[in-house]
Amino acid sequence: MLQALLLTQQDKKTIATYGPLDESQLPEGDVTVRVEYSSLNFKDALAVTGRGAIVRKWPLVPGIDLAGTVEQSSSPDWKAGDRVVVNGWGLGENHWGGFAQKARLQAGWLLKLPAAFSARQAMAIGTAGYTAALCVMALQHHGTAPGDGEVLVTGAAGGVGSVAVALLASLGYKVVASTGRAQEADYLHRLGAAAIVDRAELSAPGKPLQTERWAGVVDPVGSHTLVNACAQVRFNGAVAACGLAQGADFPATVLPFILRGVTLYGINCVFVANAKRVQAWDLLARHLDPAALETMTVEIGLSQAVEQSTALLDGRVRGRCVVDVNR
Ligand SMILES: NC(=O)c1ccc[n+]([C@@H]2O[C@H](COP(=O)([O-])OP(=O)(O)OC[C@H]3O[C@@H](n4cnc5c(N)ncnc54)[C@H](OP(=O)(O)O)[C@@H]3O)[C@@H](O)[C@H]2O)c1
Repeated sequence: MLQALLLTQQDKKTIATYGPLDESQLPEGDVTVRVEYSSLNFKDALAVTGRGAIVRKWPLVPGIDLAGTVEQSSSPDWKAGDRVVVNGWGLGENHWGGFAQKARLQAGWLLKLPAAFSARQAMAIGTAGYTAALCVMALQHHGTAPGDGEVLVTGAAGGVGSVAVALLASLGYKVVASTGRAQEADYLHRLGAAAIVDRAELSAPGKPLQTERWAGVVDPVGSHTLVNACAQVRFNGAVAACGLAQGADFPATVLPFILRGVTLYGINCVFVANAKRVQAWDLLARHLDPAALETMTVEIGLSQAVEQSTALLDGRVRGRCVVDVNR
């Protein structure tokens, strides 16, 4: 028997049950992984609470990422004992994910756990941190360099935001962190933010073109925050948009794009070629300070995932949350 969190649906309501699961219930796949850690991401919290339409196959073990050790493999690419990390590919959405002591997966989804990280550190980074790295790579690809001026990170005290702040700062960018949690200013300075702005300055409807300020933006928030960020980007600057914490709407004009040459990059972390994933993990291995990572990490046991999901969606979780699936 395995311990797992299982989501079922009754009268269109999500029921989350933590308890034993027979291993024979695991889905088809060529590799069985003994999971050590998963992490709690925004999408997991939406799935577990039923507040968002994330689950596409019932019943489902949620958890969009995991790290652990291969127990059994019928693929020549992996053997028992290999240390692996997985995220995306529909895990925790239409394929059973990381919120269980074991997972059965397709061989092509696995990546070798980077040597720089323990399984716990890889999940402290998790999907949110790897997505932050994809956002930073988009800005780098655009040509945004550390000397170009301030880079804005919205939702800065959250998971994507915290990793983006620390990673950009360590790469030498001057980071301005936008947060609604004034009490987290010290925390954000410790991660490397040079300055803090109140998220209220960005979250209400604003003018289509505003004073140019940002050389680049990482935005996990969406809605008016993303629109205002675009309206404040400097000539030929870039925005990497990856989230919808404020909302999925984008009530914008085209003016920043056609008058200031602003580029908007959309970031999707779920379906990314493995070569690019390796680049993102490599960037994190080289530039994310392990002490900063520890500062932004809280740990829970799998049995606490339901209450923590509510806390995360209510904005009460700072940084990243790793999930020890074995307690
Ligand atoms: N595209 C992808 O592949 C991908 C991958 C990972 C995550 N995401 C998305 O990125 C977003 C953030 O994920 P996360 O893991 O960082 O979540 P998180 O830890 O909950 O952080 C979200 C942060 O957004 C800010 N926020 C929340 N509600 C807000 C509101 N109403 N108005 C303005 N700001 C608000 C808060 O930051 P402050 O407290 O600092 O204000 C909060 O901490 C989610 O929408 C998630 O689905 C997308």
